[in-house]
Amino acid sequence: MQKVISRPPRGLDATPPEGLSESELLELEAIYCSHGDTVHYTNTPKIFERAEGSFLYDAAGKEYLDLQMWYSAVNFGYRNERLNAAVRRQLDRLPQVASQYLHREKIELAAIIARDAEQKFGSKGRVHFNVGGSQAVEDSLKLVRNFKNGKSLMFAFEGGYHGRTLGASAITSSYRYRRRYGHFGDRAHFVPFPYHFRGPKGMSKEEYGHHCVMQFARLFESEYNGVWDPKAAEAEYAAFYVEPIQGTGGYVIPPKNFFVELKRVLDAHGILLIVDEIQMGFYRTGKLWSIEHFGVKPDAIVFGKAITNGLNPLAGVWAREELINPEIFPPGSTHSTFNANPMGTAVALEAMKMMRETDYEKLVMEKGAYLLKGLEDLKRRYPIVGDVDGLGMALRMEICEPHDSFTPSKAIVDRMVDEGLKGDIEVGGRKYGLVLDIGGYYKNVVTLAPSLHITKHEMDLAIKLLDCVMQRVGRT
Ligand SMILES: Cc1ncc(COP(=O)(O)O)c(C=O)c1O
Repeated sequence: MQKVISRPPRGLDATPPEGLSESELLELEAIYCSHGDTVHYTNTPKIFERAEGSFLYDAAGKEYLDLQMWYSAVNFGYRNERLNAAVRRQLDRLPQVASQYLHREKIELAAIIARDAEQKFGSKGRVHFNVGGSQAVEDSLKLVRNFKNGKSLMFAFEGGYHGRTLGASAITSSYRYRRRYGHFGDRAHFVPFPYHFRGPKGMSKEEYGHHCVMQFARLFESEYNGVWDPKAAEAEYAAFYVEPIQGTGGYVIPPKNFFVELKRVLDAHGILLIVDEIQMGFYRTGKLWSIEHFGVKPDAIVFGKAITNGLNPLAGVWAREELINPEIFPPGSTHSTFNANPMGTAVALEAMKMMRETDYEKLVMEKGAYLLKGLEDLKRRYPIVGDVDGLGMALRMEICEPHDSFTPSKAIVDRMVDEGLKGDIEVGGRKYGLVLDIGGYYKNVVTLAPSLHITKHEMDLAIKLLDCVMQRVGRT
């Protein structure tokens, strides 16, 4: 190591030699990589070398069953043959082209998404692509503000997450993401989400959903509640940004009645419904869009992550024609060099074709139900599990103090994650690691997003590994 970092810097000549050991790499990382991303949430960042199907492999060849799949960006498994082949084909044909020109993959992809939305929601619309989820959220904010004559105030949910660019973090509930950077745009008004496990006791899930809508509706009862001018019949707020199932918020699943009731209030007050499907889209919950479970029609859908199975970055927004037609959103309204890039759109197009040809709805609901049964069994056996729930293959396991199975325990869940990453859990004579992700309002929820292609054998392994990890962190 010494030899690398003590060498006098000579521009690119100072490039470290290849084949550094893991500890040498970590030493370099500590010095040369920004720690402003999320790598240093843990004290010992993990380096992976290889991936296949549901597994990640470290340099020593240890295999780690991944139950989070890059926050649901790799829905179709690592190194998915069909999708990787699409990337290779595009690489050999038209890998780059300036975004002022067209390529067929962009057009076909937009048409598939828009036609599907038209069929499902009865609205003509168009698609605008960008690179990452946060950037697509920014584009959607432009669409909304433009359509609503510059109105810049939004509603969003407590526990909601829409990204960390300045605009997206203004509508994300955590002040933590804004504290150092101040406000660049208007911060959203954050409204309670029907998080039933931590809601008032004595209410059914549906009653609590209804209660949350009524609390929101109360804002419009009088001009003195700060959002509504009854004389002009106009709201000060342009749109409500929702994740149908909260992602970073801990895979919280609302009751079925919730969005129908909420939408009535929005429609009555001219407020747009913008659905963020960045984490829950592309069959994570058993539907292309998770909002399809809830019987409402969105004005716009923002998507990203799994559209390319986590390969070349691509995200985008579908919006109703009224918001995005060329008269109202003319050329140059927004632009990024890499938006609609050929590699991303090619793999996304292949992914959409694969979703059209495969009955993911059935497959995901069946596998999700099987996994949920396994989680319910763990809940019966371990008092640290306060709640389990799932919709399709978006599953949650809320970890709590064992004395009441309710008080959130970030400490226990942190230990579970660390134990999983040790890579020494023995099942059937083999050693495994386990990759888990944590979410939730109290950072105590294991948010499970396995590959939609996970096998039955791997699901059994997942439950066994969780069982072993929970034994290690204490049965009491
Ligand atoms: C629901 C949701 N919205 C927005 C984002 C931001 O997307 P990106 O990280 O690609 O910028 C994420 C990322 O986790 C997300 O889960």
